[in-house]
Amino acid sequence: IHTIDDFTLDGKTVLYRADMNQPVNREEGRLESCSRIRACIPTIRELLDRNAKVVILIHQGSDIEYHNFFTTKPHRDVLEKLLERPVGFPEDVCGPAARDAVRQLQPGEVLLLDNVRFLAQEQTLFENALKLSFGEQASTLLVEKLAPLGDLYVCDAFAAAHRSQPSLCGFELVMPSAMGRLFEKEYCRLSELMESPKRPCTFILGGAKVSDAFGVMEEVLRKKTADRILTGGVTANLLLAAAGISIGEKSREYISTHGYERYYDVSRRLLGTYRDQISLPLDAAWAEDGKRAEGEVKAVPSGAGIFDIGRETAAEYSRMIQSSSTIFINGPMGVFEREEFSLGTRKVWEALAGTGGETILGGGDSIAAAERFCEVEQFSYVSTGGGALIRFLSGEELPVIQALRYGAELFAGDYN
Ligand code: 3PG
Repeated sequence: IHTIDDFTLDGKTVLYRADMNQPVNREEGRLESCSRIRACIPTIRELLDRNAKVVILIHQGSDIEYHNFFTTKPHRDVLEKLLERPVGFPEDVCGPAARDAVRQLQPGEVLLLDNVRFLAQEQTLFENALKLSFGEQASTLLVEKLAPLGDLYVCDAFAAAHRSQPSLCGFELVMPSAMGRLFEKEYCRLSELMESPKRPCTFILGGAKVSDAFGVMEEVLRKKTADRILTGGVTANLLLAAAGISIGEKSREYISTHGYERYYDVSRRLLGTYRDQISLPLDAAWAEDGKRAEGEVKAVPSGAGIFDIGRETAAEYSRMIQSSSTIFINGPMGVFEREEFSLGTRKVWEALAGTGGETILGGGDSIAAAERFCEVEQFSYVSTGGGALIRFLSGEELPVIQALRYGAELFAGDYN
């Protein structure tokens, strides 16, 4: 895979694909966090310092995460502050306005395009959605309209490297490509960690991105990367239900409205094969008169829903964390944004911050929990990746890495 060291950039137009996907406050039209934008700044600065014209492509939310599916205008405002210079925003993805703005860009100038996922061909997350080959991705509207205007495609979107979508895997086939500095850092540091994780190695899988959690769980158990899995969030609810525990009407409703029922079978299969390695909550918290109520998982009232792990589980998970040498964390234990359901995530995150083992944290929610309950600096490594990180660590070759590698073979010449 090429890096930006392999290219001269003076006066070149760089199509820069980054991951600045962040939780959005829709009412106020602003981002809840800027951590992923900050992480991209060194690459953007370097491109501008090397006199490139920089065109930034990003996504925000998706058809699945509709509450975060939004214009990228708020990202422009943050970028202007962090880069301390104007950032053009043509309010278009690859239509005439966007292409005119790209053509008019001068060396050392930067512009941001609107959400690439406003284009249907980028939306490949639903199970029945398009699954395009790299070749097909190279012939999509986005790539066909923008590639002729650029000299080099630079990808810094490590956090989206598990997605096979045109803005991520299409350009590499039609123009020279390289990883940006952030991608390079993540790729090198995480490859090192993966080669020989110190044992015992524990994975914490929680949160609401259920398909990511189950995909990874299966993989790391099968490949014996993980010695133990600690579960929380919706993932734990599905496993508990599959183990025959009544998780309450509200949890079941959440599962069915999100179409997660198919994970009951997956859960039963995983529990059938790996019961000894998977830790399930022993106790849980639910809402009673707007307050936290807690008890054994068997005692969850039929009309309630599980919104957090209980104290006993938090203490048990903390002990397991202390006795692990490597811990990968993806996804909180419950709805920690609500004070009454923050206890489980708080206790587990405090244990993580205080342990001597190597802690590798990823995912927007997990980082937000670290910002809230401890110091992000207390973790050994903080990745911008969530699903991408965890898949990378489970040994999968991610589509974007495949595409960059393929692109490096296709465009193997000397560009300096
Ligand atoms: C993430 O937030 O993990 C990445 O930006 C990818 O987002 P996605 O899960 O919506 O594809």
